[in-house]
This record gives sequence, C-alpha cells and structure tokens, in this order.
Amino acid sequence: MARPKIALIGAGQIGGTLAHLAALKELGDVVLFDIAEGTPEGKALDIAESGPSEGFDAALSGTQSYEDIAGADVCIVTAGVPRKPGMSRDDLLGINLKVMKSVGEGIAANAPDAFVICITNPLDAMVWALREFSGMPHNKVVGMAGVLDSARFRHFLSLEFGVSMRDVTAFVLGGHGDTMVPLARYSTIGGIPLPDLVKMGWTTQEKLDAIIQRTRDGGAEIVGLLKTGSAFYAPATSAIEMAEAYLKDQKRVLPCAAYCDGEFGLNGFYVGVPTVIGADGIEKIIDINLSKDEQAMFDNSVNAVKGLVKACKEIDPTLA
Ligand code: APR
Repeated sequence: MARPKIALIGAGQIGGTLAHLAALKELGDVVLFDIAEGTPEGKALDIAESGPSEGFDAALSGTQSYEDIAGADVCIVTAGVPRKPGMSRDDLLGINLKVMKSVGEGIAANAPDAFVICITNPLDAMVWALREFSGMPHNKVVGMAGVLDSARFRHFLSLEFGVSMRDVTAFVLGGHGDTMVPLARYSTIGGIPLPDLVKMGWTTQEKLDAIIQRTRDGGAEIVGLLKTGSAFYAPATSAIEMAEAYLKDQKRVLPCAAYCDGEFGLNGFYVGVPTVIGADGIEKIIDINLSKDEQAMFDNSVNAVKGLVKACKEIDPTLA
C-alpha cells in the first residue's frame, strides 16, 4: 500500500518543523508548498538528507505548484505571515485572509478529499475563511489551537506541581487568543481536578490564576523572546498530533477549532471545542455543560471570534 501523502502549505518555520516531524514519525511522504522559490525545495532536501542517520522511510519534495499536492491525504496550512513583537494575532487578518483564498482554492482543486488542518492566525477566523474559500466539508477542515494551548497549560502545571507532564491533563476552550478559556475543573493532575488540588493545599488559587494567564499569553511570551517570529516547535507538534489521529483513525479526544452547527449554542462558527478525531475527520464535538462563569468567558471569546469573521466579510464581500 502506498504511503499517505502529506501536503504542507507554507514551508516557513512551522512548515519546516512539520515536515521534519512527519518524516521522523513516518506518517507519510511529504510535499512542501510555498510561494518562496527554493525554500520548500531546500527544506525538503535538507530533511531527506537526515533520513539515513534517522533511518526513516519518507519521500520529501518541495514545490511552487499546487498540482504537486494532488491527492494529498492531509494538508496542513501555515501559509501567511506570523506575528512580530507588539502585534496581536488579529493584526494579521488582512494579509492572511488573501492567502487563505489562494490556499483554499488550491487545495479544493487538487486535494478535495484531504483532512485540512489550518494553523495560520488569527486562527478561528482563518480556518472559517479557508473552509469558505475551499467549499470542502466542515468535518474535514479544522483549526489547530486547543492542542497547543492545552499543551502550554499542561507544561506550566507540571512545573508548578513538580510532576510529569504525562500525568497532567488540561482543557482549553474558546478562541485562540487572549480570550481563550482554560477550564480548571476539567484539568487534572493524575485525574485530580485543579480546584480539588487547591483545596488540598498543593497550590493556591493565586498561583493557578497566574498559570491560566500565562497560558493565555503563551504565544505572546514566545514572540517577545524570539523577536523575529512566533512559536513553531510546539505548534507543529500539536498539528502533527491531529494529523496522526486522522491518518491512524485513533479517535483521539482533542480540543480543536471545529465548526459548530448547534453545538455550544453556536451556528456557523469555528471555535475551540473538545472533539473526537478519527478517519472521518472531526467525528464528534463534545458539547459539555458550562457553569455560569465559564459560559460568560466562553461567550466573550466567541464574540471576539465573531468580530474577526465580520471583519473578514467586510474585507472580502464574497464571504458575506
Ligand atoms: N502561499 C503559500 N505560502 C505562502 C503564501 C501563499 N500565498 N504567503 C506566504 N507564504 C509562506 C511564506 O513564504 C513563508 O515561508 O508562508 C510561510 C510562513 O512561514 P513563516 O513566516 O516562517 O511563519 P510561521 O512561523 O511558520 O507561521 C505561519 O502560523 O502560527 C501561525 O501566526 C502564525 O500565521 C502564522 C503562520
């Protein structure tokens, strides 16, 4: 049986890391697409040349032609511009919306059956626009945000509690921005919810609040340190986790920016919610009950996403 084909649209910092991880994990053959001539070809060749030492079997190539992604099983989209210090994800909207148009059309024409994972920011609006431009089924077009946000939350919690990250679960809802909603009562250390750990005296509410804020600011913290771009190792790893869940029909329970059609009281918006990912893409959205406070935070986050979608429609009236 032929190996799966993974198309990476955008061969920048995240795209290159995605290609490396996909090859190391032998998820399939990798095609890197980018408008920058030489970049995808160079990265593909460089990673292929690491193959003999790593011992992976995966073919890698780079291209400027959408025809080369034909029949891809998975497309991961990072095309666009990243943040610089002082910029919010929302500042990228105008430029990246145009990029989503060409990418959506390119994928729909050449890989209409692919599972599409969007990473380009501002995420919740860009994945919505990408789906609109591509016309592909909603369950096959999804945004990567929650896996990354919850990984950041898990990392900070493991530092606070001094335990293995493997034993920390975390739950993050809402848009991928300053309004995201880390849910403490569904986040656990070895199955013990965070509020119980506060009651037990293992941490304090103040420390927990600071961790939640650091999670919300996780992307900006990296931008501030790097100065020339935004995070790429953890975003790439998170998207690869989603791609693997699809390719191997793992039925993973992962928080993603998924299209809500009735779930969480939303109609027609992409926002971060718990999902099940398997061979049918987004197979289920887990519509949990929120407390009054959580609902208020979620509504605030959804309103921010709605504002961005409205801005997209104003910039490109074909989306209205
Ligand atoms: N089609 C294909 N590729 C494009 C296009 C386009 N229309 N426009 C830009 N690109 C390419 C650039 O040439 C560049 O190689 O997208 C790549 C983006 O790479 P980086 O600038 O290194 O950005 P990266 O850090 O990978 O982040 C990409 O993901 O997390 C988000 O906010 C981040 O929106 C940003 C995206």
